[in-house]
Amino acid sequence: MSLRRPLWILLLTSTIVSFSTWAAAPSAESFQRCAACHLATGEGIPGAFPPLKDRVASIATSSEGRIYLVSVVNSGLMGAITVAGTPYMGVMPAQGSVYDAAGISEALNHAVQVIDAENVESDWTPFSATEVQTILDNGQWTNGQETAKLRQKLLEKYPDLQ
Ligand code: HEC
Repeated sequence: MSLRRPLWILLLTSTIVSFSTWAAAPSAESFQRCAACHLATGEGIPGAFPPLKDRVASIATSSEGRIYLVSVVNSGLMGAITVAGTPYMGVMPAQGSVYDAAGISEALNHAVQVIDAENVESDWTPFSATEVQTILDNGQWTNGQETAKLRQKLLEKYPDLQ
């Protein structure tokens, strides 16, 4: 009996997921695409895919950082960056055609609240679909190079994020 229960829960969960919209999907689900590169733990692969762990929570504390994070997911990121002392010269493909505003908020909330849980402040405000949609509507960036410029400005203002 007790052995069968997890299976039931699994079946029930996957049924709910398949019938629900992005907004209602559990955030782990929305992070699945990200995990293909950044890994489910968000630790990344040094030199190839930068870590999100020990990083995204601090980026998400400022409004500029929140805009940057939405921009990365929606429009991608292209160009040389350094994260925790390791250089990356990769390209993150834009995910805007796959994720709507609710999906972006779910994926980012998972990255901050689950993957970088150790570093998130208790009064941190999670992303909402409305906030993400507003950022997208006001955004001037269109591609990964533009997002890279946003990143540069962010680091100039918050050098601790280097
Ligand atoms: C196909 C691989 C791939 C996928 C899928 C992917 N990323 Fe990335 N991501 C990258 C690479 C590569 C970079 C670094 C790009 C560079 O070197 O300019 C990056 C950079 C980032 C950064 C910037 C980190 C920093 O320190 O500035 C964030 C945040 C991020 N990704 C979040 C996500 C999230 C959230 C998802 C899922 C919605 C996702 N990524 C999906 C490959 C990927």
